Amino acid sequence: MIVIVGFMGAGKTTVGRLLAGRLGLPFVDTDHVIEDRERRSIPRIFKTEGESAFRDVEQAVVADVLSGPEAVVSLGGGACGREATRAVLRDHTVVHLDVSLEQARCRTAGDGNRPVLQRPDLAELHAARRAVFYALADVEVDTDGRAARPVADEVLAAL
Ligand code: S3P
Repeated sequence: MIVIVGFMGAGKTTVGRLLAGRLGLPFVDTDHVIEDRERRSIPRIFKTEGESAFRDVEQAVVADVLSGPEAVVSLGGGACGREATRAVLRDHTVVHLDVSLEQARCRTAGDGNRPVLQRPDLAELHAARRAVFYALADVEVDTDGRAARPVADEVLAAL
């Protein structure tokens, strides 16, 4: 399984789709699986049940998807926060799409669908998660100032 991780705005879904097309594999975005399974949007889940309930569903969905058929899988930006998920990732090829906080803010400006963007400690969260992504990644690609296609090309060359 090729698993794409990275902060919000890194381009995980766009690059993941391109990679899946080039590799002839299905593409799965775990955020979409969560919304299908729960029949509600992610902001709705955050609002009605809170972040911790969302993380429980996310952990279960990631484990299910990663035990399923071979695919390119993109994870939500906070999915690697749980040790159980990090443990599952060790059996797969992890691609980290790195993005600076400045670029992430630009790419997600005005996006009302990502509740975590409202957190006052976003800079600390970005730094802490980045360290986790670096530690998990088999392939590391910088996305700042770059379009999805050259990023996907670099990932393919590194696989
Ligand atoms: C989150 C990122 C989102 C989504 C949810 C929480 C996060 O996914 O899973 O809003 O904690 O960073 P993207 O990284 O695809 O935006």
